[in-house]
Amino acid sequence: VRRDRRPPQGHERSLAVPRYQPGRSAEEVMAEHGLASAVKLASNEAPFGPLPGVPEAVARAMARSGHYPDHTAWALREALAAKHGRPVEELTIGPGTVGLLQQLLLAFAGPGDEVLFPWPSFIAYPQFTLLAGAAIREAPLADWVTDVDALLASVSRRTRLVLVANPNNPTSTALRTAALTRLLEAVPEDVLVVIDEAYHEYVTDRDVPNALEVFADWPNVAVLRTFSKAWSLAGLRVGYVVGHRDLVGAVDATLIPFSVSAPAQAAALAALAQKAEVARRAALVVAERDRITATLADRGLPVPDSQANFVWLPAADGGRPLADALERRGVVTRPFPSGVRVTIGLPEENDRFLEALDGTFDAVPVVVR
Ligand SMILES: Cc1ncc(COP(=O)(O)O)c(C=O)c1O
Repeated sequence: VRRDRRPPQGHERSLAVPRYQPGRSAEEVMAEHGLASAVKLASNEAPFGPLPGVPEAVARAMARSGHYPDHTAWALREALAAKHGRPVEELTIGPGTVGLLQQLLLAFAGPGDEVLFPWPSFIAYPQFTLLAGAAIREAPLADWVTDVDALLASVSRRTRLVLVANPNNPTSTALRTAALTRLLEAVPEDVLVVIDEAYHEYVTDRDVPNALEVFADWPNVAVLRTFSKAWSLAGLRVGYVVGHRDLVGAVDATLIPFSVSAPAQAAALAALAQKAEVARRAALVVAERDRITATLADRGLPVPDSQANFVWLPAADGGRPLADALERRGVVTRPFPSGVRVTIGLPEENDRFLEALDGTFDAVPVVVR
């Protein structure tokens, strides 16, 4: 055995891919700074436990853990199709919307193609674009909002997909119906527009569309939804995509066999019965979002209008210094090159963030825009 030899190197395509960076955990930050407690507001998770009935459904599914799950997740697909009033062939399940995004990119883009998205946006978009062998094309935001004109100006002959997170992560803003309609009317018909509605349940602006109702009939539109956020199931990995049946079929062809586990399918089905509780929880998050937004504005730190479960603090010198200062005070947020994203937590967690921010304010000037 020649242990001194180098192992085979990964394909250049995968070596060039930026690795997905998960948010830091509270435990990591406690250990680093010798803190007795810390709160994690870094991954846009719901701050609540499982919805009623979900643990029992998961336990029942565990009884068959020696068996493979239903690859098609048929019962869940039927339940979701009924919920949204669509034929079951127009909807499919995947391991989180990240799984479905990777599948969409594998199914619709490859070498020589371009994938267009606003930037900054969800960090998985460039990762999956490069993994599919396609090229990244970024369009700047305008005042932290997706800029339809900038997107349209960036469409080229090579563009295969446009990815629009609505609301956008990390900037929390959302495009309204008129703007999205203008985008869809102007992009070439053979370009697939993915509307990623991971945060849809937190939208309160009446002019921001429910893309599932307004746009899912366009043959070149795919709408993504997830159980990870408002449905408190981030740990079990279930998302779905709605669109034309041919498009859904192409996505299904790329599904890793059995990648949505039976407990995950059972959990999502049980969660669907808890619509009122989901709405109640989302309303709590929205009330806290509004409280934080108002408090920050009072302190001279206006943030963009959030339609999601997080707020965006633009930082002229990059988000790192502010995020580090907050971590030293036991609040874990998510830094980006142009700001800091703060997830809305429970009221006491949000208070801790506001207190920590008080302590850092002089040290770290935050500049809006
Ligand atoms: C815009 C956007 N899409 C998708 C996801 C991923 O969600 P899931 O847990 O369904 O993979 C996130 C999670 O942060 C997100 O911000």
